[in-house]
Amino acid sequence: MMRSLLFVPGDSERKMEKASDCGADALILDLEDSVAPSRKAEARQIVASFLATARRDAHAPLLIVRVNALDTGLTNDDLAAIVGAAPDAILLPKANSGADIQDLDVRISVEEAEAGLPAGQVLIHALITETAAGLLAAASFAAKSKRLSAVAWGAEDLAADIGASSNRNDQGVYTDVFRLARSLTILAAANSGVDAIDTVFTDFRDMEGLDAECRAAVRDGFSGKMAIHPGQVSVINAAFTPPPEDVERAVRILALFAAAGPDAGVLSLDGRMIDKPHLKQAERVARRAGLDPASLPDLS
Ligand code: COA
Ligand code: MG
Repeated sequence: MMRSLLFVPGDSERKMEKASDCGADALILDLEDSVAPSRKAEARQIVASFLATARRDAHAPLLIVRVNALDTGLTNDDLAAIVGAAPDAILLPKANSGADIQDLDVRISVEEAEAGLPAGQVLIHALITETAAGLLAAASFAAKSKRLSAVAWGAEDLAADIGASSNRNDQGVYTDVFRLARSLTILAAANSGVDAIDTVFTDFRDMEGLDAECRAAVRDGFSGKMAIHPGQVSVINAAFTPPPEDVERAVRILALFAAAGPDAGVLSLDGRMIDKPHLKQAERVARRAGLDPASLPDLS
């Protein structure tokens, strides 16, 4: 379950400590844009030792490391420093196409092998809309690497890439290119069978604005949202936790389909038609609620 993913600058031990118990489902330890070029080497060491000593149990946050983009010449040094310390995932910024995911997969495989980690253990998350190329190649991210488990979108770097002076209009609404980026992320995630993660909300004192953006993200199919400040985490977690009545209904739908057997077509619940799309939705809600699959009705 990854509702909230909190960015933490990779050169700040203090922030890493503070982030650890703020309730985030995942931390994104950043080696990229929040770390100055002169501090990259130090950040790698800080992140590696944090990974080596952090609590790693079911209740601790997942630990993701954002490396520098493939065209920076820094990625291999990032991977060499951190893959051996077994992060849960690597977040690739400025991914331009599925070929970049294949490329990163191979580089991770080398480091995993050198460190003696099980092959394929370290997953990949990708920011797929930070360049015009990535956005235009949204369909290409599918089926390139078994490691790919989430795609996310970013609005700041895309603005720089296309030469937009702002990503929102005077009313604070994302302009067309950014709305397209958001939509393509949802589609690329579904097309690739991975989670869709919503972009950061940069105005970190505006909790009402954050809540509204979270509600829209849940409605539209995102399964989580990135954060930049610990104060944003509880708002995100609350919004992405399905309400008990939705969970109860989902479990009832799963039970109905289980009882009807593998050839179930259309069913009814409380006077409403229930079919395959409802089953898919119910499975999604159960997953988002963090229900143990073993505790659910057997659908096979
Ligand atoms: N992770 C962990 N702790 C954080 C944090 C974060 N992302 N952001 C803030 N904190 C801590 C601060 O260190 C501060 O603790 P302290 O007073 O004990 O040092 C406390 O939370 C309150 O912070 P606040 O004063 O409200 O904000 P700030 O001005 O110190 O920091 C930012 C503002 C934006 C610089 C900071 O939130 C940050 O670094 N965010 C992450 C940026 C990032 O990684 N960007 C890359 C992806 S877009
Ligand atoms: Mg960036």
